[in-house]
Formats: sequence, structure tokens, C-alpha cells
Amino acid sequence: MYKIVKKRELNSTVTMMDIYAPLVAKKAEAGQFIILRVDENGERIPLTVAGFDREAGTVKIIFQIVGGTTMRLNAKKEGEYIQDFVGPLGCATKTDGVKKVCIVGGGVGCAIALPVAQKFKALGCEVHSIIGFRSKDLVILEKEFAECSDKLTIMTDDGSYGRQGVVTVPLKEAIEGGENYDEVIAIGPLVMMKFVVATTRPYGIKTTVSMNPIMIDGTGMCGGCRLTVGGKTKFACVDGPDFDGFEVDFDEAMARSSAYAEFEQGQRSELCNLLNKAVK
Ligand SMILES: Cc1cc2nc3c(=O)[nH]c(=O)nc-3n(C[C@H](O)[C@H](O)[C@H](O)COP(=O)(O)OP(=O)(O)OC[C@H]3O[C@@H](n4cnc5c(N)ncnc54)[C@H](O)[C@@H]3O)c2cc1C
Ligand code: FES
Repeated sequence: MYKIVKKRELNSTVTMMDIYAPLVAKKAEAGQFIILRVDENGERIPLTVAGFDREAGTVKIIFQIVGGTTMRLNAKKEGEYIQDFVGPLGCATKTDGVKKVCIVGGGVGCAIALPVAQKFKALGCEVHSIIGFRSKDLVILEKEFAECSDKLTIMTDDGSYGRQGVVTVPLKEAIEGGENYDEVIAIGPLVMMKFVVATTRPYGIKTTVSMNPIMIDGTGMCGGCRLTVGGKTKFACVDGPDFDGFEVDFDEAMARSSAYAEFEQGQRSELCNLLNKAVK
């Protein structure tokens, strides 16, 4: 069992937890993820390592409450325990040869992008971050990004905070304004990553995306997380989650990501009914 040593609400739908998991904390690197089960009957879900403290033995996770398992996880209180916490899984983000990087995060993808930005900063790179949200009340991790970025641009869809518009607008402006990025790293909704790739492709700037398909075992055995990259089948859990954005078949990934939508909606409604009955 793994103790929740700290819990903090980042906004109305995103929660941060520090989990005591010393063996995971000892080996974790930016870009890797864990798979957890909230209780012994729980579904396995992957969440990115959003930070770690090797001395304290804790691993930080930041999750959006989107369905059954994340609702159950969010119902846990500080001091309580979760059943399983396996990791670190997947490959760490590669940093070799990068001196100037632009990190583009969207929504809860910013939680995944933050440790990557922090790692590049710690290695002495020039870090520009562009983070986008639907509106002001959904903005997360602004202070943390400001601390590890030489330049930070915040975008909101409705203009309620930062600049109005999508993340690709300041990205294109920066590239055309002469910022010579060695790499752009995009982490967020599939559609956002697809458009970041469309923005950088004409300039030939290396672009890495972090893919988040359905995962089950997280060890390359089940095939649930398969993607087509450069015309070949890859497993996001062992070959990724980072991939060359120019090579990813985003249309296939988007079609596969909605394959279980009906079932997931059923699970959500069932749990909401249960929680409502419990309150009455
Ligand atoms: C490598 C990786 C890292 C991730 N990191 C984060 C993170 O740091 N923070 C965060 O909020 N979310 C992250 N996700 C997404 C997270 O796993 C899903 O939000 C979570 O599984 C939802 O489960 P649910 O039961 O609450 O919702 P459901 O209603 O079951 O699903 C809601 C949506 O979540 C996705 N999802 C559901 N089950 C899985 C699964 N087993 N594997 C992958 N995706 C699934 C689907 O796109 C689905 O539409 C990550 C996914 C991957 C693959
Ligand atoms: S999650 Fe099963 S192969 Fe990747």
C-alpha cells in the first residue's frame, strides 16, 4: 500500500498528490510514468511522474478528474493509502545536444511538461515555455513554470488570462521572430500536438510529442497502447511515451482514443449515481 503524504487541489478538476513510493522515487526521471490502482478492484491507470523527491521517497502525480478511476482517486484523503503504484515505466525524455528548447503544454498536459522543462533548465538549457488553458480558472503551475523558464507565455482560449488564442500562435511568432530552437516538445491533447507539429514541420525543427493512448499492462505485452510511428507499430509504454512528432499518425491515434467512450461514459454515470446516493 502507498501512502498519500500530501494532497492539493490545483483547480476544480485537477489534483496533485505526493505518494510515498521510495523505490519509484529512487529511479524516476522526467518523461516517465507510473501505473496505479486505487483499490484491489480498481482499474489500472497510467499517470506521469510530475516530480519526485529522492530523499523523502515521494513521487508527485497531477491528475485531471475525468472518469471513474480519477474520481475514486480524488476521493482519497491525505494520510490514506492507494493499492498499487508501479514504476517508473517508459523512457525518460532525451535531452542530448539540446541548448535551446520550447516546451508547449496544454491543459493537464502541463503537469507532464513541467518536469521536462525543469530537467532542461537544470542542465543549463535556455527554456521557453508556452502553456495553454481553456480559461483563467483552469490555469495550473504558473509559478513553477515561471521558475524554470527563461520566457513564459500563457494562453487562454477565452482571453480571461494571459493572451487569447491557441499555443501555436506564439510558437509560430517565436520561430518567425528568429528563436532558433533545437527542439520543440509538445505535451497535451492529441489535437494540440497535431497542430504544433503542423506549425514546426515547415521549419524542420525537431518536434517531440508525448503520446497518451489507452494503456493496460504498461510493459509492452498487451498491445493496447499501439501507435503507428513512421509507418511502424510502436508501443507507447515501452518505446515512448515520447515520439518524433513528424512520424506519428495522429488521425489513427485520435480514432483509437475514442474507442471506449461509450463504456467510459457508462462508468462515469454509474459512479456519479453511487456518490449521489451516498450523499443522500
Ligand atoms: C503515459 C500516460 C501518462 C498520463 N499522464 C497523465 C497525467 O499525468 N495526468 C492526467 O490527468 N492524465 C494522464 N494520463 C491520462 C490518464 O491515464 C487518464 O485520464 C485516466 O486513465 C482516466 O481514467 P478514468 O477511469 O478516470 O477515466 P475514464 O472515463 O476511464 O477515461 C477518460 C479518458 O481517459 C483516457 N483513459 C482511460 N483509461 C485509460 C488508460 N488505462 N490508459 C490511458 N488512458 C486512459 C481515455 O482517453 C478516456 O477517454 C496519462 C495517460 C498516459 C497513457
Ligand atoms: S500498455 Fe500494453 S503494450 Fe503498452
